[in-house]
Amino acid sequence: MADTLKIAMPKGRIYKKASALFREAGLDIPVDMDETRKLVIPVQEMGMEFIMAKPVDVPTYVEYGVADIGIVGKDVLMEENRDVYELLDLGIARCRMSVIALPDWKPGIQQRVATKYPNIASQYFREQGQQVEVIKLNGSIELAPLIGLADRIVDMVETGQTLKENGLVEMESIFNITSRLIANRVSYRMKNTQIQSLCDRLQEVIPTSEVK
Ligand code: PRP
Repeated sequence: MADTLKIAMPKGRIYKKASALFREAGLDIPVDMDETRKLVIPVQEMGMEFIMAKPVDVPTYVEYGVADIGIVGKDVLMEENRDVYELLDLGIARCRMSVIALPDWKPGIQQRVATKYPNIASQYFREQGQQVEVIKLNGSIELAPLIGLADRIVDMVETGQTLKENGLVEMESIFNITSRLIANRVSYRMKNTQIQSLCDRLQEVIPTSEVK
């Protein structure tokens, strides 16, 4: 019998969409897996084991091979820059990474940018030839321009509701985000048949209109 395939699943906003995609592909994963406090969930009949991970840690588990594959947003993948294979654009959890400011923002001498994504933000402003101070925050990023911590923020925009409710505007979109299936480089070789068959099944149900 083939080895168990270990899959790092992101808890939170991607989980429901990812698990729905798995089910559509005929992979009968347990419902409400994200609602239990259990972190490692074996599903023997599928030959799989699900690791319920904090999204930002998924590429780390996959790079170190404690998970063979994982599901992660392109935002986290770019920020973490881990040595993993990106196998598939799953076309779900579509949103974008943007530069955001108060409507009256103008380029100033002291430019501060708050973000959960310091690597992405630093690289973007470097490429733009703009000198900024990047301040790392861990959530509620939209607070920063409202209370004067930063002039601008770099953050995810999905529906735009958070911006609207806080009177902020999107100045520029940096890149589009969808969830990706990633694999550990060694696992990809050692468990290629299992991983490839999972990819094939998922590929059939990826919403084509959403894939770029
Ligand atoms: C994300 C992101 C924005 C919001 C965008 O925050 O950081 O704040 O969602 O979504 P919207 O365009 O649909 O309003 P998240 O909910 O992940 O929480 P956080 O503030 O803790 O990062």
